[in-house]
Amino acid sequence: MIVLKSEAEIAMMRESGRRVGRILMELREMIKPGVETRELDRYAEKRTLELGAVPAFKGYNGYPASLCISINEEIVHGIPSSRRLKEGDLVSLDFGVIYGGFYGDAAITVPVGEVSEEARRLMEVAERSFYRGLEQLKEGNHLSDISAAIQAEVEKAGFSVIRDFVGHGIGRELHEGPQIPNFGQPGHGPKLKKGMTLAIEPMIAAGHYEVAILSDDWTAVTRDGSLTAHFEHTVALTESGVEILTADDQGWQP
Ligand code: MF3
Ligand code: CO
Repeated sequence: MIVLKSEAEIAMMRESGRRVGRILMELREMIKPGVETRELDRYAEKRTLELGAVPAFKGYNGYPASLCISINEEIVHGIPSSRRLKEGDLVSLDFGVIYGGFYGDAAITVPVGEVSEEARRLMEVAERSFYRGLEQLKEGNHLSDISAAIQAEVEKAGFSVIRDFVGHGIGRELHEGPQIPNFGQPGHGPKLKKGMTLAIEPMIAAGHYEVAILSDDWTAVTRDGSLTAHFEHTVALTESGVEILTADDQGWQP
């Protein structure tokens, strides 16, 4: 179900989102060779509580941690562990909180030290495709205009869009309607309206988009082992236009 939010509800989602943005930016600074992925998870959880929020993913469908950390061919839902990051890894951090009853959800992909040219390009294309999608978020457009714009940007670069995971509406639930695939023909699906709050999240692969799930029942990887990248923000279509709710708000103090 698509739930339209009032300006007051969007104001609460802004509070939730800025906490996600802040914590992700702090985590980005911690990414270096030798760091254990569970240290990042512990930090994310500690900061969430300090900022008066609750981790959104822990316990969600039984997910065991606060942060998803997906490395190289891992696309999403990588579980933090004693694994250490190493030079050249490409690391996706996907993180969400609940604050004042509202969810925020965002993801970034970060290089560990020097990464390959392909990794760098993949990261850039994931982010750029998000913004191409976001440009389509305006009243009167159809939902799939976002999907089509993301797909076009990714495929133009010679990469592929993951089909098995999608963006989503977000608010009082982590996953609300509508689903937002990162591929499709323009001009389909619901019309975009003020009050929509969406998590737009291209997940892309350097090779084929086919997915496998590891034996931990969570970690999704590319079947061909190709590198992946993920970029996500929670965004809103408001009276004054498009707003990125999970942007890091420089200088903001809770
Ligand atoms: N960020 C993911 C999403 O957008 C949620 C992670 S699923 C969880 O759907 F189980 F790890 F919480
Ligand atoms: Co999401």
